[in-house]
Amino acid sequence: MRSKILNLLKQAGDNFLSGEYLAETLNVSRTAIWKHIKALRDSGYDIESVPRNGYRLLNSPDLLSAEEVKNTLSTKILGSEIKYFTTTDSTNNQAKKFAMQGAPDGAIVISEEQCGGKGRLSRSFFCPKYKGIWFSAILRPDFLPQEAPKCTLMAAVAVARAIEDVTGVKVGIKWPNDVLYEGKKLVGILTEISAEMERINYIIIGIGIDVNIEKEDLPEDIRDIVTSLSQITKKQVSRLKLLNKVLYHLEQLYIMAQRHDFAPILDEWRRYSITLNQDIKVISGKDITYGRAMDIDDDGALLVEINGQIKRVLAGDVSI
Ligand code: BTN
Repeated sequence: MRSKILNLLKQAGDNFLSGEYLAETLNVSRTAIWKHIKALRDSGYDIESVPRNGYRLLNSPDLLSAEEVKNTLSTKILGSEIKYFTTTDSTNNQAKKFAMQGAPDGAIVISEEQCGGKGRLSRSFFCPKYKGIWFSAILRPDFLPQEAPKCTLMAAVAVARAIEDVTGVKVGIKWPNDVLYEGKKLVGILTEISAEMERINYIIIGIGIDVNIEKEDLPEDIRDIVTSLSQITKKQVSRLKLLNKVLYHLEQLYIMAQRHDFAPILDEWRRYSITLNQDIKVISGKDITYGRAMDIDDDGALLVEINGQIKRVLAGDVSI
């Protein structure tokens, strides 16, 4: 009901719609309309009400609610179903539940904030309310389980493209999945998979983008290593526009990946990479490797040259 009222108000533009008109059109009482208008105001919509004229929408907040996201979607698969939370522990956890209940390929879970945001290697990820894009996509690709890391690379490319489209900011990708700007982290991606020997049940791609986080919003221990689009551009960036572009590019790349047309995606990843051709240190559990990052292979593993030998690194933390 709320989204129907919102759509009518949006369509009316600068014109007022009377409570009576809304009630008749939507077949509910005027009191019900008034209650929904109040709820919309509580969630940040600026709705003017003038006696005898009715209601008029003055401003919409930059919310990532299912209605707002659906209204701007330019995709067929990604976002075909949307679950929205104003707060949750982790959209990856919620997406797992949703996947186990049978969510379709491309369903997404969005939250305005996460109180238990998960990073790679059991780390936490800072996700303050309304300041970033915190979402997880459920994919059910026809890949072998060992090909799943490709989805992480694909997601990093999609986000890099989207950021460039919306803000003009050129970012770099640090293997395997951090999107950085001038050495500071802007985006984190956490991929989780449920699979059998020969078959993927589902892949959850969790993406966290620091959009409008100011330096003082950040906990002190990460203030110097993390940045945001608003800090880079000195402007507020529309989360809705950016999410729309991320979903668009993710879908384009996912369609290519489903056709097993992965080579162009890997090449694009290589062009965004800030890891390749660098002397690096990789920490994988207790194992520390020093060497030169030469390339990634077809499965997305990092190929590191150590004393003339190539070592294949499947997971870890890279520092340059
Ligand atoms: C990392 O950089 O270590 C990965 C961070 C991934 C964060 C995103 S935010 C949406 C999704 N839900 C989570 O709990 N984590 C991912």
